[in-house]
Amino acid sequence: MKQWSTAPVLILNGRPYGEDRVDLLLADGVIVAVGDDVRTHPAIGAAQVIDADGLVVLPGLVDLHTHLREPGREDAETVETGSASAALGGYTAIFAMPNTDPTADTAGVVEQVFRLGVQAGLVDVFPIGAVTVGRKGERLAELGAMAASAAHVRVFSDDGDCVADPLLMRRALEYVKAFDGVIAQHAQEPRLTIGAQMNEGVVSAQLGMTGWPAVAEEAIIARDCLLADHVDSRLHVCHLSTAGSVEIVAAAKARGTRVTAEVTPHHLILTDERAVGYDPVFKVNPPLRTGSDVEALRAALAAGVIDIVATDHAPHAGQDKETEWDNAKPGMLGLETALSVVIDTMVNTGLLDWRGVARVMSENPATIGGLTDHGRPIAAGEPANLVLVNPTAFWTVRGQEMASLSSNTPFEGVTLPGRVVATFLRGTATVRNRALQEKSEV
Ligand code: DOR
Repeated sequence: MKQWSTAPVLILNGRPYGEDRVDLLLADGVIVAVGDDVRTHPAIGAAQVIDADGLVVLPGLVDLHTHLREPGREDAETVETGSASAALGGYTAIFAMPNTDPTADTAGVVEQVFRLGVQAGLVDVFPIGAVTVGRKGERLAELGAMAASAAHVRVFSDDGDCVADPLLMRRALEYVKAFDGVIAQHAQEPRLTIGAQMNEGVVSAQLGMTGWPAVAEEAIIARDCLLADHVDSRLHVCHLSTAGSVEIVAAAKARGTRVTAEVTPHHLILTDERAVGYDPVFKVNPPLRTGSDVEALRAALAAGVIDIVATDHAPHAGQDKETEWDNAKPGMLGLETALSVVIDTMVNTGLLDWRGVARVMSENPATIGGLTDHGRPIAAGEPANLVLVNPTAFWTVRGQEMASLSSNTPFEGVTLPGRVVATFLRGTATVRNRALQEKSEV
């Protein structure tokens, strides 16, 4: 698909990590010069010049948790449209969850997704392999074959469902040690969440909806931390959503457990009060929790107990979402709004600085996913995977205007801070500097 510039790019007066202004020269896929060295570099004459005065420069964002829906539900999203959505959100690499149809549980399917990502060419797409065949939780999928495939899978998950059987979970954790893989667990004890529609608490009682108790998440996280310890393997906890989960992960980390954890943008800002209007756009799994959970999640992200922000970008076709709450599929779009939500909840509140944003949205997810070309420092010789952000701009979210094929954003009509101006994948602009034009207007 489209990329707009292969010429060298000169970024003038950008502010890496929101710090001092500096010029950056990108050529041949790398940052070839920074600061004073730019002026004497031979490539400078041919460069396309971008006035980045006032813009924050970050390493390209990395999303460890995206649903691309291809193969199987190309009416909701494709690898190409999801890639475009990611580039607009400032991402240069995304990990695609395997709950597709067919399930990404073989070398063949993960290679197909990987190839589609290369064809789209807007972000690097890394398939996540299913832990169990068909995500049915009955027997292990071909983890080794997926790891050895051209897709080079290192992250495995049955996301959407929990690997509930402790023996299977143990075996999966043991198996991936051979290639330094990681099991990303969707922590949801199934017996405790039968028929659950939203967070179990005051609001679910008022609405008469079946509740999804915090303990259903926390019990699995506690169990899996113990299992990861027992076999000395790597566990990653998907979309942590409760204050109790934070306590369990903190205690496990203090003990030396090899556990990492993610939080979604929506769990950093929205609460279960949103269910009051019965608008299924707010139905998500795990569900939106309480205000005190939101506070605990923000504090844990700031403190490093939670390692990363991951979108859980979950596009759904209109007929699956615009229906009564009980029948609607859980999930919400995330890629195009994630950075703005993080700016709103973490930067503008003083909880994270821009280095912190780079850490939780680029460096740490790249490390967990085993990437060596993303999440790198902004320095000469490093891959030119970068995003330019206007930190003072505001924009109003419109689902219909998004690159995603679906429009189930929980932020419809909401004005959010911070705008991605340009995204560069190996020195090539994958976003056509949309907001560079808007910059003069804000
Ligand atoms: O809300 C969710 N939607 N949570 C998940 O775990 C799966 C996802 C999806 O695939 O739609």
